[in-house]
Amino acid sequence: MLPKFFFILITVLTLLVSLFVNGDSKFSNPHFIGNRSVITHLMEWKYDDIGDECERFLGPYGYGGVQVSPVNEHAIMDGRPWYERYQPVSYDIHTRSGDEQQFRRMVQRCNKAGVRIYVDIVLNHMTDGQSGLGTNGHHYDGVAMQYPGVPFGPNDFHGHETCPTNDLEIHNYSNRIEARNCRLVGLRDLKQQSEYAKQKQVDFLNHLIDIGVAGFRSDASTHQWPDDLRSIYSRLHNLNNEFFTENSHPFIYHETIYYGGNGINSNEYTSLGRIIEFRFYKEITNVFRNNNQLRWLRNFGTEWGLVPSGDALVMIDSHDLRVGHTGQLGFNINCFEARLLKAATAFMLAWNYGIPRVMSSYFWDQIIRDGKDVNDWVGPPTDQHGNILSVHPNPDMTCNHEWICEHRWREIYNMVKFKLIAGQEPVNNWWDNGDNQIAFSRGNRAFIAINLQKNGNDHDKNLQKRLQTGLPPGIYCDIISGNLINNRCMGKSIQVDKNGLSDIYVGHDEFDALVAYHIGARVES
Ligand SMILES: *[C@@H]1O[C@H](CO)[C@@H](O)[C@H](O)[C@H]1NC(C)=O
Ligand SMILES: *[C@@H]1O[C@H](CO)[C@@H](O)[C@H](O)[C@H]1NC(C)=O
Repeated sequence: MLPKFFFILITVLTLLVSLFVNGDSKFSNPHFIGNRSVITHLMEWKYDDIGDECERFLGPYGYGGVQVSPVNEHAIMDGRPWYERYQPVSYDIHTRSGDEQQFRRMVQRCNKAGVRIYVDIVLNHMTDGQSGLGTNGHHYDGVAMQYPGVPFGPNDFHGHETCPTNDLEIHNYSNRIEARNCRLVGLRDLKQQSEYAKQKQVDFLNHLIDIGVAGFRSDASTHQWPDDLRSIYSRLHNLNNEFFTENSHPFIYHETIYYGGNGINSNEYTSLGRIIEFRFYKEITNVFRNNNQLRWLRNFGTEWGLVPSGDALVMIDSHDLRVGHTGQLGFNINCFEARLLKAATAFMLAWNYGIPRVMSSYFWDQIIRDGKDVNDWVGPPTDQHGNILSVHPNPDMTCNHEWICEHRWREIYNMVKFKLIAGQEPVNNWWDNGDNQIAFSRGNRAFIAINLQKNGNDHDKNLQKRLQTGLPPGIYCDIISGNLINNRCMGKSIQVDKNGLSDIYVGHDEFDALVAYHIGARVES
């Protein structure tokens, strides 16, 4: 009886705590500079390249931060799959992306360019049951649970005394004890209740903080006890004063894959920072795939069951989603459906909800058999010795090798600017056609119209309407179809009259499914 009562008490206390600290956990501020507001994940990029990108592109184009792939020593696996970075061997900063010196230099350069660095941290587990070498030369043995590079031994892992399943694997993801004390797909599950293991993780995070990072993405958060994370976070240093104001706390966002139902509720983690709101990705993808009408997005947010905006980090695509490791392959929208990805990303950046993260991927040969991508493991572009290839962007903004650089697509980087200019202005002037055409403004600073109409004749499918834009009178460039250069629009333009009205047009078969205007792209007369 005691354990049950104890559980109910803990649940009630957790709920009470989350009620009072929603939106202003001390770890929910990303510490962006100025009005910047978007993160991009440069998956598997080398630190020298990220430093270059901060200076030449991310800073000037208004991105707020970069999520970098896990930075600590990890298993070297056959074929070098991308997910080897999620199998830690030690907390040394040493991967194919670079060593600690290169990491430090990147952090310096990006902070100076106005771009923050967030590190993907894997605290839940170490490797699976293989043995071999890590990226900094440390041996590891997953069967014996020996990780001399930390060092961790068998006592630092959950075993039969804490995990109730016979094979120590998680079978029921809704069961808190299994999900948090057993193994996630064979990965050796660290016992974060152990003071020793906890301190090793605190030391690692504090080392990163002292170098100058702004925060962390917490991998596999639902597989860790909120109280263990709370205890770890309570020992973290304040951010480095060289780059951040006094008494700044790290930004921490949690991977909590929760769609409702009896899974582990993401709101167990909102008092610890933000959560990655998977329901945002799922609902938006559903709408943009025409399984639900765009017109319903009018009240998108908490009224759809999402956590409050201040508790959320949102995305359309991610390193897991793109290959179907989370979500559902064929449903998830990624770079292989560029038109859809741009439209859904544009909505994410135009809507005033959460902190958006833009995925930046690399090409791989997608081969789908029985609903699974058989190449879902493919790692980043490398030379024949396995060194990650450098990114050298072309003059037309595209990238070389297999780097896709979605964050450099005009439709995306210009919507990052749109969001920056829209600031905290509310959504106004909502219009819809009762189906799959919508338009709205952000105060009187920005306006967007999206057309995904599939039903009706060609005339019905085109969005052609005189609408209230909220914008001051003038001529504005559509930032989706081209830039404003030398006071001329390279793409489409509109004229807004003295009442804020304008003729808006988005043909159903156009290259992009939307148009967007803001006061930063107005032609001076
Ligand atoms: C999984 O765990 C949850 C929560 O403990 C429980 O309600 C559910 O019945 C379990 N499911 C199965 C199939 O055992
Ligand atoms: C930030 O946004 C506010 C309004 O949203 C605006 O007044 C201010 O000028 C912006 N600052 C910069 C540096 O763009």
